Amino acid sequence: MKIAMVGSGYVGLVSGACFADFGHDVVCIDKDQSKIDLLHDGVMPIYEPGLDALVDSNVKSGRLTFTTDLAEGIKDAQAIFIAVGTPSRRGDGHADLTFVYEVAREIGESLSNDAVVVTKSTVPVGTGDEVERILADSGTAHQYAVVSNPEFLREGAAIRDFKQPDRIVIGAEDEFGRNVMREVYRPLFLNESPILFVNRRSSELIKYAANAFLATKITFINEMADLCEQVGANVQDVSRGIGMDNRIGPKFLDAGPGYGGSCFPKDTLALLKTAEDYESPVRIVEAVVAVNDSRKRAMGRKVIEALGGLDAARDKKVAMLGLTFKPNTDDMRDSPAIAVAQTLQDAGVDIAAYDPEGMEQAAPLMPGVTMCTNPYDAIEGADAVAIVTEWDAFRALDLGRVKQLAKAPILVDLRNIYQPDDVRAAGFEYTSIGRD
Ligand code: UGA
Repeated sequence: MKIAMVGSGYVGLVSGACFADFGHDVVCIDKDQSKIDLLHDGVMPIYEPGLDALVDSNVKSGRLTFTTDLAEGIKDAQAIFIAVGTPSRRGDGHADLTFVYEVAREIGESLSNDAVVVTKSTVPVGTGDEVERILADSGTAHQYAVVSNPEFLREGAAIRDFKQPDRIVIGAEDEFGRNVMREVYRPLFLNESPILFVNRRSSELIKYAANAFLATKITFINEMADLCEQVGANVQDVSRGIGMDNRIGPKFLDAGPGYGGSCFPKDTLALLKTAEDYESPVRIVEAVVAVNDSRKRAMGRKVIEALGGLDAARDKKVAMLGLTFKPNTDDMRDSPAIAVAQTLQDAGVDIAAYDPEGMEQAAPLMPGVTMCTNPYDAIEGADAVAIVTEWDAFRALDLGRVKQLAKAPILVDLRNIYQPDDVRAAGFEYTSIGRD
């Protein structure tokens, strides 16, 4: 089956490469010539473990190609995916659908065979209806159906998430749409990945509800962590204790500096907007957004406290380890590290930082921060070390060397990757999240 993927960003590229790996013929389309040039040269425009090898083998097998020409790319495709960005609209948090609608118009104008148009981009409820109107307005003579098929990929684990999904959600209004989508996902279906067929609006909402629920889980445990610090409990034990209840589940209960990334912050805001538009408030999500926003700066204050408070912190130097919003990505979008750094800089603290993949993206977002070539360079002469992202490279630091290089043995672990007893036994003053 031929599949066209319009938008070769994170979602489009990963999905396209995985579909090709399943044996489909896939054309990834993007209007950004430089991105397509890079892909033709075998260079990945994003960092995702395993993606380069997957793209390479499928390009070599002839099943994966790239083009900037939408009309040519969608020719003979039975499924045309829209996987372009839906950024937060400046000012109001609404998802900006300009690119989605632009692509829908182009598809309508260029359609040369019957096809299912699938929105994979995260789009608010009702977007599929609008895409359908746009296709109808184009006057195309070919049969089409508009289907919603949200993606649930995590950056850093995207290929595995695509190939072994917990579920595939398809929002379709007719049998033509459902049948084509069954063919698209047949290889996964055979692996017994459940496919959930729902109506299009439910599918669109499932995506937002899932992300909002996960953001809520994280925010819940973050507030429990604060409470743990006050009452002398240990948040990791609390997580384990509640997570063993099957109804709650153990995942997404790691307390930390607050969620970031390209999805949770944007999608929770967009959900609030939808709720407002339909006058059906989602107050829990409102609270989650507010709590998470304030948490990021609070983490900066935690580091300042470890330095001895605001007065003591002035002109001190902090080594920040980890800048990306989570490990195994170079993505800095809404990373808590940005707010932590700003809070420290507002207090007159100098920052030397190291991140295994994110420094190029981080540099313009963190003016005044010195980027170092390895963790120990950042630590040299520091008055405190703050672990902000839990990269594996920071899990087994040579604590003896850290102590030698740093001016003071103060370690602030915003991801709870060290055991308090071990670090204290090595002579450090140690602060973490929700534990003594
Ligand atoms: C998230 C969802 O997990 C995916 O299912 C979804 O497809 C994706 O958004 C999307 O909408 O495209 P992602 O943003 O890549 O994926 O990252 P996550 O692994 O979910 O982490 C998000 C944030 O939550 C990170 O800042 C992470 O550090 C934080 N987090 C996660 C915690 O603080 N604690 C946890 O227990 C888990």
